[in-house]
Amino acid sequence: MIRVSTGIEGLDEMVNGGIPAGHTVLVMGPAGSGKTTFALQFIWNGLVKDEACMFISLEEEEPKIVKTASRYGWDFQRYVDKGTLSLLKLDALDISATMARLKSELPKIIDSTGVSRVVIDPFTVLEMLYETDHERRVHTFELCDIISKTGATTLVSSELGKDGRSSWFGLMEYVVDGVILLRNTPITGSEDRMVFTILVTKMRWSNHAKEIKPYDITDKGIIIHSKSAVF
Ligand SMILES: Nc1ncnc2c1ncn2[C@@H]1O[C@H](COP(=O)(O)OP(=O)(O)OP(=O)(O)O)[C@@H](O)[C@H]1O
Ligand SMILES: [Mg+2]
Repeated sequence: MIRVSTGIEGLDEMVNGGIPAGHTVLVMGPAGSGKTTFALQFIWNGLVKDEACMFISLEEEEPKIVKTASRYGWDFQRYVDKGTLSLLKLDALDISATMARLKSELPKIIDSTGVSRVVIDPFTVLEMLYETDHERRVHTFELCDIISKTGATTLVSSELGKDGRSSWFGLMEYVVDGVILLRNTPITGSEDRMVFTILVTKMRWSNHAKEIKPYDITDKGIIIHSKSAVF
């Protein structure tokens, strides 16, 4: 089986060397836990390996995506110009247009350019567009099926629900192949501070790490301290 390196220091060894190619993985966490950074870093690692990649945002316009990546030293513009990176901002308010565009364009774009990595950030916004749970379930399953059939390795992000452990609607974790839970926890002690922690709660086809590991968000992106324990 081919595994796709995330490019995030310390993470590949937590997931048996990488995410199984073609799988869809959910990265969920509270505000500011690094979901977008994680997703950009996953794309960056594909770009530098000459893979065609696609970053779909429900939040930021294309120039803003480029700017956010550049804050970590990742020159997305170079790959947009080269033609190996497609950026797409989707309208979070017009549900039917957005879904129609995704359903018709995604397979076409991915097939024609051979895109191997896709990100949808934040996926929660798509889930929020539906009026009923039934509609949400049907359309989420359908969209994930379309994504899966493209064969691209996909990362989608979600905000956390009120329990702090499930995705916003408690649905996506059952649909996807893998789930990575990010948290920012305040620690009280001699020095009060916040620690970021990561836990792989699901990774199909993988004997993944079961321990919670600390990570830092730095000028160069996310670094997971996979040798350290959280205390
Ligand atoms: N250069 C940097 N050095 C250190 N930490 C940084 C740097 N840039 C960003 N951060 C940290 O990353 C956090 C933002 O990360 P990011 O935007 O990826 O989170 P997110 O989970 O996508 O947030 P949201 O839920 O708001 O979309 C900041 O709050 C800050 O703690
Ligand atoms: Mg974000």
